[in-house]
Amino acid sequence: MGRVLIHVRLILLIVALFCGVSSCQKDGESTMGRVNLTKVSQSPKPVGGKAFEKKKIKIGFSMDTLLEERWLRDRELFKKAVEALGAEVEIMAANGDDSLQISQAETMISQGVDLLVVVPHNAEATATIVNKAHLAGIKVLAYDRLIKNANIDLYVSFDNEQVGELQAKAITRLVPKGKYVYIGGAVTDNNAHLFKKGVFNVLQPLIDKGDIKVVYDQWTKDWTPANAFLNMKAALKANDNRIDAVIAANDATAGGVIQALEEKGLAGKIPVAGQDAELAAAQRIVKGTQTMTVYKPISTLTQKAAELAVKLAKGENISADRKVDNGKIEVPSVLLSPIAVDRSNIDKTIIADGFHSRQDVYKNVRSYSSIH
Ligand code: BGC
Repeated sequence: MGRVLIHVRLILLIVALFCGVSSCQKDGESTMGRVNLTKVSQSPKPVGGKAFEKKKIKIGFSMDTLLEERWLRDRELFKKAVEALGAEVEIMAANGDDSLQISQAETMISQGVDLLVVVPHNAEATATIVNKAHLAGIKVLAYDRLIKNANIDLYVSFDNEQVGELQAKAITRLVPKGKYVYIGGAVTDNNAHLFKKGVFNVLQPLIDKGDIKVVYDQWTKDWTPANAFLNMKAALKANDNRIDAVIAANDATAGGVIQALEEKGLAGKIPVAGQDAELAAAQRIVKGTQTMTVYKPISTLTQKAAELAVKLAKGENISADRKVDNGKIEVPSVLLSPIAVDRSNIDKTIIADGFHSRQDVYKNVRSYSSIH
């Protein structure tokens, strides 16, 4: 019995050795199970070696601006996320200049990027970029802001209408009746319209009831704090400083609003809403001059956008559960959820997430106001 076993083992050993030098396997399949050997590794190396190497995917990232704090974070995290996926990214920012943004995109198209990711300065003007990219066979993903009236391939952002709703819900809870000021964003940015729509979704029934009166409502050119400051000064003047609440479209404009309130000794006495969870806004929240902000976890946005951008560039199928009408088509969209932040949950949200450190947020905080 023992001898028979030794013979069987000997035969198996010979077969195994034979398989090692010839080929007893099918392509891409080992006797140990399914191991995917590529054809390339089984073929003789071509002369020069490069012909079979896979080309690295290159994404072009066309940004409007780096002015607000968030865009620096978007730029850094998007680059990291794309690189972690084995692709590379070329980034250009246009300083709020439409023709510069278009020419930068043209440069990236002519360099042969595999896909363009665009944060449009102007929702309408950037349709040109989409047309030019498509002519070159390059797909376009609208990042954070929608591009209007163009055949964009994908839109990845937050639910921007919900941003406005969160702001208005937080402020109407504190001031259910009274005179409201709305300081909008840049009229050229589709998001500014969505934020405003969300705010008025909540305010309108209260306006109709006669509880709330919107006494001032203005866009802020290019989202700058300086323009928001001027708007707020005009609002105060037109109403003899008698204003009960302010909703500003982001933290930069909220900063301008609060500066105007400070000049009148009203900072901390009138609730102000913003958006972006900028460090300065987080500090104003714990100090008491700003009531709330809306936190949009940028790392989630960059991660999602990078994954989908690389897939699209490779021609793979992607799944987008929402559709957004951009005036021309129903754009496949991914919209992430924003989070309302005030002093009561600042530790559990932006600080817990490491978006800002506790030390930075609570730097120089001594006074607390009475409006919360
Ligand atoms: C973004 C905001 C930003 C604003 C100004 C909007 O489109 O969604 O997060 O504060 O632009 O840059």
